[in-house]
Amino acid sequence: MESNEPTQPSGASKPSAASTPPAPRLPRKGEEVEVVVRSLGERGHALAEIGGRTLRLKGAAPGDRVRARVLRRGRRGLEAKLLERLEAGAHAADPRCPHAGTCGGCSFQAVAYPAQLEAKGRWIEEALAGSGLAEKPAVAAVLGMDDPWRYRNKMDFSFASRRWVEESEPEGVDASFALGLHVPGRWDKVLDVYACRIAFPEAETLVNTIRRLAREQGLEPWDVHAAAGLLRHLVVRKGFRTGEILVDLVTDALAPERIEPLVAGLLEAHPEVTTVVQGVSSRAAKVALHEEERVHHGSGVIREELAGRTFEISATSFFQTNTEQAERLVGVIAEEAGLREGERLLDLYCGAGTLGLCLAGSSAHELLGFEVIEPAVLDARRNASANGVTNARFEVGDVRDVLVAQAHGELPRPDVVVVDPPRAGLHPDVPPALAGLGALRVLYVSCSPRNAVGDLLRLEELGWRTVAARPVDLFPHTPHTECVFTLEPR
Ligand SMILES: C[S@@+](CC[C@H](N)C(=O)[O-])C[C@H]1O[C@@H](n2cnc3c(N)ncnc32)[C@H](O)[C@@H]1O
Repeated sequence: MESNEPTQPSGASKPSAASTPPAPRLPRKGEEVEVVVRSLGERGHALAEIGGRTLRLKGAAPGDRVRARVLRRGRRGLEAKLLERLEAGAHAADPRCPHAGTCGGCSFQAVAYPAQLEAKGRWIEEALAGSGLAEKPAVAAVLGMDDPWRYRNKMDFSFASRRWVEESEPEGVDASFALGLHVPGRWDKVLDVYACRIAFPEAETLVNTIRRLAREQGLEPWDVHAAAGLLRHLVVRKGFRTGEILVDLVTDALAPERIEPLVAGLLEAHPEVTTVVQGVSSRAAKVALHEEERVHHGSGVIREELAGRTFEISATSFFQTNTEQAERLVGVIAEEAGLREGERLLDLYCGAGTLGLCLAGSSAHELLGFEVIEPAVLDARRNASANGVTNARFEVGDVRDVLVAQAHGELPRPDVVVVDPPRAGLHPDVPPALAGLGALRVLYVSCSPRNAVGDLLRLEELGWRTVAARPVDLFPHTPHTECVFTLEPR
């Protein structure tokens, strides 16, 4: 939790009591304060200390002296809005995106990349230190990117009938149409996104063209209050290694007479788009779902290459959003797995089979993957045959149910298990079943190391020890980190 984090940078010593100036009093809501940022918090804030409390704000780096206005004062500390960076510290950077500070997607654009990596590694160390684990692994340096920009191969934008209006805009400005990203904390308001420096370059031009065409053609954006409107989401994906681009329009109804002119205009302006898909979703979901799908142009899928394999990605299937770093992640997992000829790999929460197919293949005797989403399993099977992998089997199944079945001896004993669950971590029934599989190694891949440590502790109680923690930065400028934990039986 951010409010529990130390506000001293790692390695900094505390001033002696004699030299400590009196702590400034606790400021009130609305008051302007001047503080020096001490560290970064796991929820994307810069942290400072004032009046004996932690003050959180966005848009500053450790060492910066800033002026800020207090927005909230609560038991967990103070929240403030940055007004001015008075003095840049050693870790300051200039945000590259014009929406930095409003969009909320990249809370660390004002922080130099090495300091982001240092903070991400420290959070994992702190999570392990507070985990209760008897044996804690050393945390390896976070593997970062050489150029941490334009890395995302997928962007998911929302249409809305209420646009977020910037303070700089004149009063009464038209705010009845938006296509972009939700402003943090505002489920009903969307910021018109014109530029995004972490997305692939074509994502910017595509979002702007579709906004222009939709407005010219009088297509209604989704109104969350009325739960009505035609246009709901726009998802754009690119295969970095193939150049293929997918556009997915999620609408409330098929409405071909209204969507076809939009698609025609899009393809005229962007011949680089290789496939256009329309998904219909009538549910009040914040994410792009398809209850029905229509392919307007191309094959309906794009291909991406990773670790020498080719993957087909459909509009809704999960694929790691940072291709370059996903390859590094696969490299780390492969090193830790140390699969030998004839060994059997179990890939749990396998998605479209990316990790298992990159690791196994010729050397592993058998690859078995389980995933709860059926279309992803179909992708995984297609990906296996497209890559000539004949020793792989992918099945639809909830990991919890699969492992309970394993307890009854229905599955062959794996040598190595890769577990890559969603952010929340494992279902409480999974660690005991996992511990009883008789594997030689378990590679726990987590996009939320803070949540994963609870599962590591549970596995330790069941006779497993965590011997390595190797983080990879898949999400530069955001507070998220991927980490590979290696476990062995004690
Ligand atoms: C973080 S993704 C990992 C995907 C894959 N390993 C990869 O790297 O591409 C987690 C996956 O777990 C799946 N999932 C979520 N809950 C599940 C469950 N209870 N049983 C099986 N799969 C589940 C999700 O659909 C998603 O594909």
